[in-house]
Parts: sequence; C-alpha cells; structure tokens
Amino acid sequence: MKIQIINGPNLNLLGGREVDIYGIETLDDIIEWIEASVNIENHSLEWFQTNHEGEIIDKLHESLEHNFDGIIINPGAYTHYSYAIRDAISAIKIDTIEVHLSDIYDREEFRRNSVLKDVCLKQIVGQGKNGYLLAIKQFMHRTT
Ligand code: DQA
Repeated sequence: MKIQIINGPNLNLLGGREVDIYGIETLDDIIEWIEASVNIENHSLEWFQTNHEGEIIDKLHESLEHNFDGIIINPGAYTHYSYAIRDAISAIKIDTIEVHLSDIYDREEFRRNSVLKDVCLKQIVGQGKNGYLLAIKQFMHRTT
C-alpha cells in the first residue's frame, strides 16, 4: 500500500496558525501520529507539503511514475479556486481523497465551495488529523 499525501499552502504553519480552528499540533506531530496509527506492514506514506500551486501540480504528475494506490490531498485555500489542480487530478486518473482539518461548510461562505470535490473519490471535512487516517483506511479497505 503506497499513498502520496499532499498538503498545500499554510499547512506548514499548523500548531501556530489559528489554533482555535486547526489545533496546537504541528504538521510533523500529525505525521508522526498517523505513521504510528497505521498498523499494516509494508505501507508507505509519502508526505509532501508546499506553499506553491505549481509544485502541487508537479507532484500530482510525478505520481504517475510511482505506482501509488491513492493520493490524499489537503490543498488548503487552493481547494476553493484552483481549476489547475482540479485538471491535474482529473488527468492523472489516480484515486484521490480530499481532506480538510476544519469543517469548510461551517466557516466563511467562500470556503463552502470546493472545485476539486467532484474529481475526487471522496471528501472528508472537520475530523482534524483523523481525516487523513480515515482516508488512508478507505484506500486500505479497497485493496485488502
Ligand atoms: C483547510 C481549509 C481551507 O479553507 C483553508 O484555506 C486551509 C486549511 C483545512 O484543512 O481545513 O488552509 O484546507
């Protein structure tokens, strides 16, 4: 089981950024917790974070060369307007799950729209770090 996990802009600031919304854990804390929680042998989670739209697109394209079973993406604010990321997800045809730590439907109006949602297998919102784990389990149950 090989999964690419992509985190977009400002998620490198987790732990210090709007802690009332995103909590006090850093992205590294979350990664450590997930790596410890995924208890199947031979799993490989490839983590990537960037603040740049084009780097997300390049990473999605590169995924084609690496035989991933799935991609999990938290595209940050790009979720709400990046047709370029949407097109990349459509183009690569690797099952992708969209994850948001917060409940984007219970915040400002502009966050309620995801331009990626309908090219993704599933969208998970408002579950905090557990959202990534739920997405990983979704891929595991498809292949076991
Ligand atoms: C987010 C929600 C987005 O609206 C926001 O721009 C983020 C984080 C989330 O994980 O809840 O940066 O994707």
